Amino acid sequence: MRFLALIPIIILALYQLDKALPKYYIFDPEKLQELSKASIERHPNNVTELMYDLTDALQKEYGEKHVMPFSTDPEKWMFSNHGNAMGSMIILHASITEYLILYGTPLGSEGHSGVHLAHDYFTILQGIEKRYMPGELEATEYHPGDQNWLPRGTRSQYMLKGWALELAQGWIPSMLPFGFLDTFTSTLDLPNLWRTVRLTAEGMVGQLLIGKF
Ligand SMILES: *[C@@H]1O[C@H](CO)[C@@H](O)[C@H](O)[C@H]1NC(C)=O
Repeated sequence: MRFLALIPIIILALYQLDKALPKYYIFDPEKLQELSKASIERHPNNVTELMYDLTDALQKEYGEKHVMPFSTDPEKWMFSNHGNAMGSMIILHASITEYLILYGTPLGSEGHSGVHLAHDYFTILQGIEKRYMPGELEATEYHPGDQNWLPRGTRSQYMLKGWALELAQGWIPSMLPFGFLDTFTSTLDLPNLWRTVRLTAEGMVGQLLIGKF
């Protein structure tokens, strides 16, 4: 029974760590939007070239050790099934407190955002996103260069047809079950799940080894 006395101490420690989390962030949502807008302007008609250009700019801004290069190699791309939506993604950065991915679908998809212990910043690169929150009766539309923010702990229904740069900041490991569960209840695409787990873990361990939490 004595361990019960530890519970408030553990809660307090977690609370303190949670408050300190932003200290570990390296990415700045405003800077990401600015770089995205510049790449959109340079490559308005070719999203492949836009993604190469934007990833280059991100590597220049944040360093090659924090931002992985862009590629159209199918080995680097994963499907993501989550909250009834589907898209594909390439990981540019994954650590315990942040991830940065290129995400989207040329076909269009729609679903639940999930409720996360992280803030989510979604900058549209091509196409359109529409979303609304409970209580709103009309959707908000986001076009290339627009950034929408899903605050930690909030939820939306969204529809995306196109591509976006997505930054999440918070407790990234806590978001993973939402990203993985549809594999077991729906797609049974285990090789895709394995690739996602492996590339995410490689990112997180690699970043930890260079001191990025
Ligand atoms: C976009 O650019 C890529 C790479 O340069 C090229 O392979 C592709 O054909 C281009 N697509 C269009 C629609 O122009």
